[in-house]
Amino acid sequence: MENLISLVNKIQRACTALGDHGDESAMPTLWDSLPSIAVVGGQSSGKSSVLESIVGKDFLPRGSGIVTRRPLVLQLHKIDEGREYAEFMHLPRKRFTDFAAVRKEISDETDRETGRSKAISSVPIHLSIFSPNVVNLTLVDLPGLTKVAVDGQPEGTVQDIEDMVRAFIEKPNCIILAISPANQDLATSDAIKISREVDPKGERTFGVLTKIDLMDQGTNAVDILEGRSYKLQFPWIGVVNRSQADINKSIDMIAARHREREYFASSAEYRHLANRMGSEHLGRVLSKHLEVVIKSRIPGLQSLISKTIGELESELSRLGKPIAADAGGKLYVIMEISRTFDQIFKEHLDGVRSGGEK
Ligand code: GDP
Ligand code: NA
Ligand code: MG
Repeated sequence: MENLISLVNKIQRACTALGDHGDESAMPTLWDSLPSIAVVGGQSSGKSSVLESIVGKDFLPRGSGIVTRRPLVLQLHKIDEGREYAEFMHLPRKRFTDFAAVRKEISDETDRETGRSKAISSVPIHLSIFSPNVVNLTLVDLPGLTKVAVDGQPEGTVQDIEDMVRAFIEKPNCIILAISPANQDLATSDAIKISREVDPKGERTFGVLTKIDLMDQGTNAVDILEGRSYKLQFPWIGVVNRSQADINKSIDMIAARHREREYFASSAEYRHLANRMGSEHLGRVLSKHLEVVIKSRIPGLQSLISKTIGELESELSRLGKPIAADAGGKLYVIMEISRTFDQIFKEHLDGVRSGGEK
């Protein structure tokens, strides 16, 4: 099944290579039909931190204020062995093995589009990470929801962010990671507010509670974590990310995960929940859920892909001969990829039908 998620990642990459970002595009329907996971919440609620701990790597710009100003579409690819590396769609031939450089490139590429202002842009940055230590997932980091624009931001920014976030999460195939900080009243959570709008029954929303370590003395999050404060179909997951002080001291991810495990296991309040808390648990839950969703979509995806092959073929013939080396070459490659996918889907479907699925 791991293969199937990896396959979906590859299809998404192929779509993006063709210029299909899920908006104006050659094959919008294909991208839109593939599941991905978007992280939503208020500014500084811990969205980027949660993504980093799912990935198990430091690579995102983080901190106070408006840091994430463009959507980041992040594809995790599990590889069998070897050193982990990252690639950006906008720098196709460059392999990053230094994740500090990845973080810098995200910032630089954000500035390239928004011109170093505090403006936001809905044009996504596409990043792939290849690592033996990840599960195959596609995640989207989004700018944080706010109630007021910060100094220097253009008029309308607050609404623009909300519209951008909604455009991602209203797609039925989007799994929503709704991030709420435990040190604020859940009733005021931006994440809950917007996810309830697009997913009123909570069928594709995972509630993630951050900053549990920052709650006032004498209060705890047990009512939220046990689903009594706000019920979702899936159990709430509490996490403890690194604080700003930890980041400044360069506390590494492994140490942070270890400390997070300790935190839940040794706390009198949370010990009984410890086996379903924490970033690692969250990563596993998401990967499992994605498998279920993809499985239920295989027949639909398969017919979409055959349709897409047809579209690619007519596009190729429309270009005529001689095909412009660039456009033609790219289309040809995508076509080959699509054919391979089509074959794999067929085999998988046959497996399901004959009960021979592994
Ligand atoms: P984003 O704006 O939602 O992406 O939030 P960030 O991930 O950038 O986090 C904002 C700030 O909160 C950073 O300084 C983080 O170190 C801090 N932070 C995030 N999660 C936690 C947490 O669980 N505990 C503590 N103590 N700090 C956190
Ligand atoms: Na932030
Ligand atoms: Mg962020």
